[in-house]
Amino acid sequence: MLELRDRDGLSRICRFKTRRNTVDTPNLLPVINPNLLLITPKEMVEEFGIQALITNSYIIKKNDDLRERALQSGLHDLLDFDGTIMTDSGTFQSHIYGEVPLDPLEIIEFQKTVGSDIGTILDIFTEPEDKHDKASKDLDITLERAKMSVEAKGDMLLAGTIQGGVFNDLREISAKESSKLDIDLFPIGGVVPLMEKQHYATLVDVVMSSKKHLDPGIPVHLFGCGHPLIFSLAALMGCDLFDSAAYAKFANKGRMMFPDGTRFLDELQALPCECPVCSSHTVQELKEAGPDKEKLLARHNLHVSFAEIRRVRQAIVEGHLWEFTETRCRNHPSLMEAFKRLAKYRDDLERYEPLSRDLAFLHNSSLSHQRPTISRFKKRMIQRYDQPDKPIYVIFPESNKPYSRTHVDNIKNAVALGDVHFWVDSYFGPVPIELDEAYPLAQSMTPDRLEGAILKEKDDLLKEFSEKYFKGQGIYWEGQETLDNIAFLSSEPGNFDLDMLRVRAVADLQFGKGSADILFQGQVTFKKSRKTGKIRNVMVDGDHILSMRAGDGFFTLKPSGARLLHKALPGPKLRVIVDKETAAFNQDGLNVFAKFVIDADPELIPGDEVLVVDEDDKLVACGRTNMIRNELISFKAGIGIKVRDGIEPE
Ligand code: GUN
Ligand code: ZN
Repeated sequence: MLELRDRDGLSRICRFKTRRNTVDTPNLLPVINPNLLLITPKEMVEEFGIQALITNSYIIKKNDDLRERALQSGLHDLLDFDGTIMTDSGTFQSHIYGEVPLDPLEIIEFQKTVGSDIGTILDIFTEPEDKHDKASKDLDITLERAKMSVEAKGDMLLAGTIQGGVFNDLREISAKESSKLDIDLFPIGGVVPLMEKQHYATLVDVVMSSKKHLDPGIPVHLFGCGHPLIFSLAALMGCDLFDSAAYAKFANKGRMMFPDGTRFLDELQALPCECPVCSSHTVQELKEAGPDKEKLLARHNLHVSFAEIRRVRQAIVEGHLWEFTETRCRNHPSLMEAFKRLAKYRDDLERYEPLSRDLAFLHNSSLSHQRPTISRFKKRMIQRYDQPDKPIYVIFPESNKPYSRTHVDNIKNAVALGDVHFWVDSYFGPVPIELDEAYPLAQSMTPDRLEGAILKEKDDLLKEFSEKYFKGQGIYWEGQETLDNIAFLSSEPGNFDLDMLRVRAVADLQFGKGSADILFQGQVTFKKSRKTGKIRNVMVDGDHILSMRAGDGFFTLKPSGARLLHKALPGPKLRVIVDKETAAFNQDGLNVFAKFVIDADPELIPGDEVLVVDEDDKLVACGRTNMIRNELISFKAGIGIKVRDGIEPE
């Protein structure tokens, strides 16, 4: 069972519960070759704290001694490991050696008998060169075997591999059909040759076209992904688990893995690493370590791998996985290609893009501009922002933030002359100035000089915007000249109530177009922070309906505000529907567990404020969602909605 804790991009920090223990994701399962225990599982627990490993049931079954020992006392005893053991089925051996004599049900039965915690179906390994026809026929067999294996799995968790070669349509079928079955883990298979040849852009196609159609409540494993260089990219695309034989295979060849690539020990002048192996040896000592060398290098490789897993996890928690991955991808041109390829899947990425993040948006290359944060913000703005009707629109160039503070005098002077509204030609595209405290506008670090392509995109967008949205005249800010221009065009001063404009714009952006009209009927007053002058609370006729968060500039809903939106907006807008029995608990202020969610507004994104209602649309609570609709419906463990306030009937 999978429980979501945190997320960024398509990545997630989850707890994956097996019958043995809890496996934290993202995580790496070292491959254990039972014939060749270079580092024993016991040592791996002590040195790396591994929670799970993967071994091969076919290798064990084929070897008389191993088979007998496994059948007699079980896998955990054989490997001296009491964490989660995943077994593979022998499919990969067919990729390396050609046909292997195996019966798909017999190998499931064997995995069950020896006590595997997660067994794998005997899928057909589709090679990247395979033609569509062959890939399709082999996929049919894989799916047939998945169905049979589900029937036979008993209480063992079952991994049902996604195949389909390099064909997006087949990956889609594989993912959709597998998601209909009672499968507990989705490994994405057939990708080892792509990674070996560094065809990472194709890997992005394969993973994205699979992931997009997989049941989100089930963990995803990337078969054979063992190089730390691509952990962050794979995690960003939603892969939860990896497995690695690379640590041992590379060590055997005298190669050391690093987060930025691989190097031969023999070619190193110094050890660019702070792991326990490298800290306690000089490069010379390692080179001369004799028979111990292979194990020392394997330990180094695992240290580097697990350290990278920890960095990826921390980047997810901080909401910086995009930045982190972009930096990693700079280490290889084909990884850069892969990172660029993500743009093709922007719509899919956008669906999971959170409303805001704790840390600022960092521009680190021209590719930063393709992140879904930007496209999603623009999309919501275009769909939801309601432009006040004004005869003149002044557009300020990008400047220090928040923009309204930088331009406080310019605004005052302009409004004294005419009825003007203000936009900013920002890094994120044209934005109304009253949104300047909302994420990502205020919370971003962007360069003063932008590359040509970004500038052009910005200019095109500004043109499109002014044609579509500016009913009056648009003027680019040029200081006194602009003020003279406004004076010439106007006959009387205008009014510009920044506080009111701000709360209206943020409300529409966050809750949908028209929400400001619903919320702000009556006398609107504000409580502001004494220190920063920022709006804290919004009252209507004395009733506290919203609070504005200092961190991201968006609102949290108070019960009175929730009631207003609930009364005026038809279902399923902003709703999360829970069953009647549990609704009473939410009314008492308890969080909504995902398993009790019946349905939800399909437009919700992580971080949105929601109205918790029962099946009769009775409002029982308001809170914040960390999941989108398909996740709320699919997840069977963990919190779906953090409830802030239970709401009693009026
Ligand atoms: N190990 C690496 N790739 C694969 C694959 O596609 N299927 C299985 N079962 N194991 C693998
Ligand atoms: Zn090291």
